[in-house]
Amino acid sequence: MKNLINNSIIKTISLVVISLILNACGGVPEEKEELAAAEKVFSVDEVLEMVSKENDITRTLYTKAIVGEGKKQGMKFDEDWRKNDVEAGPLPALFLRGIATSIRKGDVPLGLYLGSDFPINNANKLKGKQAVLFEKIKKDQKPQFFYDDEQKLHTAMFADLASADACVTCHNDHKQTSKTDWKLGDVMGSTTWQYPADSLSYGDAIKVLNAYAKGTVDTYIEYLNEIESFKNSTKPEIGDKWPSKGNYLPKPEVFLDSVRKLSSFGTMKNLLSFK
Ligand code: HEC
Repeated sequence: MKNLINNSIIKTISLVVISLILNACGGVPEEKEELAAAEKVFSVDEVLEMVSKENDITRTLYTKAIVGEGKKQGMKFDEDWRKNDVEAGPLPALFLRGIATSIRKGDVPLGLYLGSDFPINNANKLKGKQAVLFEKIKKDQKPQFFYDDEQKLHTAMFADLASADACVTCHNDHKQTSKTDWKLGDVMGSTTWQYPADSLSYGDAIKVLNAYAKGTVDTYIEYLNEIESFKNSTKPEIGDKWPSKGNYLPKPEVFLDSVRKLSSFGTMKNLLSFK
């Protein structure tokens, strides 16, 4: 994982350096710059691993800092959060589904799903090849990559770990749960990512990461809009503060900023922002 990210950063730095040199030599002919941006430099596996890392960070941050801390402040999170009579925010799995839906609406052909062998929602039960590979993931927590012949999509599966107490308690206590002895650190399921091409240019890789980040912001904004319509519950103050400080929620930029600070995406974006 570390190697992969270092590798990506090195590739990014090389691109920046090449462009800077070309610039110093009297400007880059536009086609050359376009050529560099269009070159297929990442394998689909590398990109799916990068976006999955973003997802791990976003998901843990949302679960711990928003759901976990928010609950201590009396904020509610519910699977029916979108219903008008339910004054609550999205559960982590539904936050993820919101992100997946937003990505699907955009023009980046990236698929994202969350599944398990012991799901709360039976629609999330892993099937076929994914169920077989999940057995391996449970043993060694290593990602699995394969080409899905039926769907004609490159597919990557990553362990979804019980990274916060909130994951364990909520799943064990849920009325529809199919397993009641989850523990911290367990592989509770897997995120599955799909993409049609086997390699991506820098431009395409950035589009994938941006589609994910946009999905996060879109879903978070939907949550804030839901709060706006609360009639009976106290509304948290939305700004720069987090629920750990009181009845507050960070505004979307503040939330995304934290994700970026915690992830390698920030580095990559900064390196590319020379243009
Ligand atoms: C407050 C309750 C709650 C918390 C906290 C929570 N979940 Fe869930 N989770 C659910 C519910 C409810 C579903 C089913 C949602 C649906 O309808 O798809 C779900 C779905 C899932 C699924 C898909 C399989 C299934 O069970 O349907 C996985 C995997 C999962 N959660 C893992 C986690 C992990 C890992 C965490 C912590 C990072 C977490 N959950 C935190 C309630 C919770």
